[in-house]
Amino acid sequence: MILVTGGTGFIGSHACLALAQAGHELLILDNLCNSRADVVDRLQRICGRRPLFVEGDVRDSAVLDEVFDRHRVTAVMHFAGLKAVGESVARPLEYYDNNVHGTLQLLAAMRRAEVRTFVFSSSATVYSDREGHVYRESSPRDATNPYGRGKLIVEDILADLHLAEPAWRIARLRYFNPVGAHESGLIGEDPRGVPNNLMPFVAQVAVGRREFLNVWGNDYPTPDGTGVRDYIHVVDLAEGHVAALDYLTREGGLLTVNLGAGRGHSVLEMIQAFEKASGRPVRYRIAERRAGDIAQFWADPSLAKMLLGWETKRGLDQMCADAWRWQQYCEGLS
Ligand code: NAD
Ligand code: UD1
Repeated sequence: MILVTGGTGFIGSHACLALAQAGHELLILDNLCNSRADVVDRLQRICGRRPLFVEGDVRDSAVLDEVFDRHRVTAVMHFAGLKAVGESVARPLEYYDNNVHGTLQLLAAMRRAEVRTFVFSSSATVYSDREGHVYRESSPRDATNPYGRGKLIVEDILADLHLAEPAWRIARLRYFNPVGAHESGLIGEDPRGVPNNLMPFVAQVAVGRREFLNVWGNDYPTPDGTGVRDYIHVVDLAEGHVAALDYLTREGGLLTVNLGAGRGHSVLEMIQAFEKASGRPVRYRIAERRAGDIAQFWADPSLAKMLLGWETKRGLDQMCADAWRWQQYCEGLS
């Protein structure tokens, strides 16, 4: 059985489907601070089996010990955490507590239970932008905010742990920009409040929830002047987790890989693709650059292909079509 922390969240819920499809039994632990319990019902509708669900916090060692005592967990996928960069600047203690202390509590409970296979949600945010646009696993790392620093710290803790106790099997997966939704349209990303990220904002403009999108800058040194990112379909990302788990089971060790498509799209390209997929106009205005943004980056995904035999299969049109199907379903949720 795989313990999926944060399994009712955006990426975790898609990972649950991919894991279930690969034949794994699942136990979700989530405190629902950024997701809804009825995601579990929808997961059951899609895959025909109901994952076990425990409402609880990864910082709560009593809950963790009970989970490990009661169930035969063989591996942990750790998605639980807070992820808003701006909020992390305003509330650093909450971010370090959730994301760093929470991970330490989880690792300690795993060690007590002698479970030593761990897959961690890292991010392209750990790369510093000094080396150019293409990020390789060996590219320099740095952080400019508490969210990113938390990812760096946990990556380093995991490397230290593996050095001290080589029996651990650890994957540090660096996600680029996850977008889209499951093709059923029943699960996806539904951020609370005003979305920080591009795609949920675009989808909310298309569906009429918001009037227009601010495009943060059109004077970057990119082909159309707007920011370029490596958008990855969340189902491809989820499949990357199954491939990483298979790799750890087979090879062991400490795995660090980019999960990205290996090519970038601009903000204007994303808007056009979404208009095409939805048949709706996406109104936008050009605004000042957003503080902290950089012009462009994308993954070198070749290591993941070589080690895991994994690469992305779903392109921009599918990302937008699936996000649109989900956005329409989402409007009907109370
Ligand atoms: P999400 O907010 O949709 O999911 C996170 C889930 O964790 C939520 O369901 C939330 O309720 C739960 N959670 C948060 N703190 C918890 C705690 N202390 N105990 C138990 N549950 C808790 O976010 P997501 O986009 O699915 O991100 C998952 C992971 O991937 C995070 O670690 C995030 O930092 C990382 N990541 C996300 C992105 C992205 O763009 N979405 C990019 C890179 C990395
Ligand atoms: C953001 C996070 C980063 C995280 C990544 C993955 C910040 C500063 N960085 O990066 O830590 O790892 O998400 O999800 O939040 N854009 C607009 N208008 C909008 C929103 C975005 O023009 O309303 C533009 C941005 O300027 C950028 C692109 O769209 O060029 C993508 O933005 P976003 O979705 O926020 O992702 P990142 O900036 O890559």
